[in-house]
Amino acid sequence: MDFSWRWCRTPGNHNQASEDQQASEDQQASEDQQASEDQQASEDQQRILAELSGWIVEAQGDAEPWVGRWSAQQLADEFRVARLAICEELDSATGRSRLMGAIFFRDLPEAWEISLTIVNRRSRGRRVFERLLQAVSQDFDAQGVGREFWLEVRADNTAAVRAYTRAGFMLSGRRKAYYGDGMDALVMTRPVRNNSVGPGKL
Ligand SMILES: CC(C)(COP(=O)(O)OP(=O)(O)OC[C@H]1O[C@@H](n2cnc3c(N)ncnc32)[C@H](O)[C@@H]1OP(=O)(O)O)[C@@H](O)C(=O)NCCC(=O)NCCS
Repeated sequence: MDFSWRWCRTPGNHNQASEDQQASEDQQASEDQQASEDQQASEDQQRILAELSGWIVEAQGDAEPWVGRWSAQQLADEFRVARLAICEELDSATGRSRLMGAIFFRDLPEAWEISLTIVNRRSRGRRVFERLLQAVSQDFDAQGVGREFWLEVRADNTAAVRAYTRAGFMLSGRRKAYYGDGMDALVMTRPVRNNSVGPGKL
């Protein structure tokens, strides 16, 4: 399948490899080029954030239980502090990239916390989560920052639990009545693995 993935340059995405590459490119690029690249990166961020916000609003409108505390504002807050990996596919009709899914990562001392996973409705059931996580995991390992992955999920979110289990997560705890409506949270973790691959095709 013709999916690709990449890091989105969020304010919280301190991807050292990218920054080093950016720094050396910065020395060579003229100020005009740099301004143009910054403008493109900013437009890319805004486009992705707007699209993800739309998905959250849609899920709120349909009262999907997983959306819980997430609002467009909380998504924007997460965007500022977390790293964001995205999966895209090429829309042959328009020639433009189409966002399929996203995973937000919080940098914890002992683990990478997955704070939000979201796949667009039209792309669900195509293993987007598993592929994107695998690619990120390999990239973290290549950067020497491979750690356990950690997340919480509603016990009744069977689609997510299936996707996480398929991607190698195991149940490591249960928080009784953790959510406002009394639903339990499952704590799931995935141990470190060793691979090495950079951004690109999935
Ligand atoms: C959870 C989620 C990220 C899984 O991503 P995915 O890439 O679709 O995962 P998979 O392709 O592995 O499918 C996982 C399960 O989703 C279900 N599924 C399959 N097609 C689906 C579809 N079109 N719509 C909804 N769920 C579907 C199935 O139960 C599937 O498991 P199975 O193939 O063993 O039957 C995605 O369903 C999603 O974005 N859900 C809404 C947001 C959410 O719940 N996030 C997690 C909590 S923050």
